[in-house]
Order: sequence, then C-alpha cells, then structure tokens
Amino acid sequence: MSSAAAPRVSTDDALDPRAMREPLPNAWYCAGQASAVAGGKMRAVALNGEQVVLGRGKDGALFALRDRCPHRGMALSKGKFDGDTLMCPFHGWRFGTDGRCRDVPTLSEHDASDFSRIAVQRFPIVESAGFLWVNPHLGPSNPEAVPAVPSLDFEPAGCLVLELEVEASFDLTTLSLVDPGHVAFVHDTWWFRPSKELREKVKTFQPVPHGFVMTSHATTTSSPVYRLLGGAPEVEIEFRLPGVRLERIKAGTKRVANYTFATPMGPNRTMLTNALYWSMPALNLLKPIARPLMRQFLTQDQQVLQHAQAGLDRKPTMVLLGQGDLPSQWYFRLKREALEAAREGRPFANPLTRQELRWRS
Ligand code: FES
Ligand SMILES: [Fe+2]
Repeated sequence: MSSAAAPRVSTDDALDPRAMREPLPNAWYCAGQASAVAGGKMRAVALNGEQVVLGRGKDGALFALRDRCPHRGMALSKGKFDGDTLMCPFHGWRFGTDGRCRDVPTLSEHDASDFSRIAVQRFPIVESAGFLWVNPHLGPSNPEAVPAVPSLDFEPAGCLVLELEVEASFDLTTLSLVDPGHVAFVHDTWWFRPSKELREKVKTFQPVPHGFVMTSHATTTSSPVYRLLGGAPEVEIEFRLPGVRLERIKAGTKRVANYTFATPMGPNRTMLTNALYWSMPALNLLKPIARPLMRQFLTQDQQVLQHAQAGLDRKPTMVLLGQGDLPSQWYFRLKREALEAAREGRPFANPLTRQELRWRS
C-alpha cells in the first residue's frame, strides 16, 4: 500500500472540544420535501435538538416556527392550521405564521391581559431543488457567510427521494459522504460495484465555495449506473458544508443528479436524504426498480454508521490515515474555518487548495 508516505494523523487534537463536535449552528439544513407541506399541511421536524413546525400559508409563503406553544409548551404541529393561523390544541391560543400571538380565546372581555407581545420563535425557511431548507440559527448573521442552499441546474423529468434516519452523529454521517474508502466494502452489490477488486484511483480535487469538488470522466468508473447513460459521462461530485453531497452527471444533453443531504435531528440522530433527479422521461419507467436499490444502498450506510457510532461512543477518537482520508480531514478544516470566521465576524476563506489524491477502491 502506498499510504505509508502519509503521516499518521489523529483528529483528536485538531478539534475544538465543544463547537467542533456540534453541527454547524448557522447553516441551511434539509427539512424534507416541499410536497410535504402542500395543501395546507403542517410538518413537524427535529432539527439540531430543536422541534420545528413547517408549513405554507394561503398566500404561498413558507413558515418555520419553534414547535412549542409559549403557554404550556404544547406542540403546535398537533393543532390546526387554517392557512393563516395555527391553533394550539391545548387551550386554543392562535398564532400567525409570523409567530405572533393573534388570539387567546379563553380571555374574558373584562380581562385586560395583553397577548400581543407573545410570540413563537421563527426560523428562516426557503425552498430549493424540491426540498425545504431551514436555518436553526438564532441571532444576527451575514447571509454571505452561510453556505448556499443546493439547487438543480436542469429541469428534471422525474425524481426519486428516500429518507433514512441514522442513529449516528451528524459528523460521522457526513464523513460517509466524502469517504471513498468505504464504498468497496459497504456498497458491495452487483448493480453498483460488479468488480470485487480494489483499483488505484487518481482524482483531482478543487476548492469551491464552502467545500470542494472532484471531477472525472466515467471511463474510469465501472458502475452500471453510470453506463446506463451511455457515452462517456462526465461526473462531478461536490461536497459543501454543512453536510451536502452533490453528484452531477452529464452525458451529452442527458443529465442525472444524485444529491445527498445530512440533517442533524439531535445527538446521534441524523436524517440522510437522497434525491435522484433525471432529465430523460424514459427513466421514469425505472422508478419501481430504482427505489428498492436506493433503499438498499442507504441502508448499507445506515447499518455501518450505527455500529461505528457505538464504537465512537465507547472511545470518541478517529485515526484518519492516507490520502483516501484527506477529504474527511478537509471536512473538519472547512467546519473549523466556518466556526472561526463566524466568531471573528469575517468572510469564510476556504483553506483548501487544488490537490490530486490517490487511493484504492
Ligand atoms: S399550551 Fe398552547 S394554548 Fe395552552
Ligand atoms: Fe456510503
């Protein structure tokens, strides 16, 4: 193995004790499919230890509020939403989608109590690539300091989405998005990786805003998934903070995108969302076949991550070794830079440089 040249690195002393172990506080996280809030439906999501209720008002505007009635803590998502106000199911207090209390129906006309100053915390929410994105950060922030929300640069003919909850930390789950070393061992299925042999890979990585990108031609890959597209597809895989992997495949005018998002729900609870989009209507026929394969693939990650988390719970250290583990080290460097830039009130400066990496997978 050629990895002998790489120094043995323990991430332990590279990390800030507290902030570095938490998910980035000021970032957009995937909060489910936009279709989940269609037709006046509310949706409750766990986000970084917070409970959030999401919805879309009659006027079409999205809202995200802390899912907690200020009166006695009831979950507002258990109540009713009429497209304008949310009604708490406990004592009927009403809140606008801006979070302001609009009515306390149990007050007597002779009661002078003022509810106009009562409000539920509101979070920023946007829609992109068919998903809702919420930033759980409270307090002021410079929008340019926050990594951009993923978007899709073609009109999809179809889309397949799978969500899987993983009982593992946000960091451990996110590392699996940038870890080429696990693929041969974890995703060892005939349809994804027919060859059983490890082969030398050489790939060029370049910094992009809040992340890095790997570009290659699929002539070097053996996956039938790529071959399905015909020709020699160009594959570009971008990683971006906080936990976003964007794989874009181009073959002539044909386009496929495979996006993966990690969302911190709470300690050792992370949602993995995978969205596959394609531009060719004919591929819609493959949806019933592709869904169980995608589930199998994500479940492989889920299982191995949960077992690894149990080991990290007993001893929370990692040894990142060799060039195949450099993208994992870059993740921590990007995260550290984001935290330091926020603390110092300056713009994010990507600490990475263009680099060629070699590993076997
Ligand atoms: S707990 Fe919400 S109205 Fe009482
Ligand atoms: Fe994986």
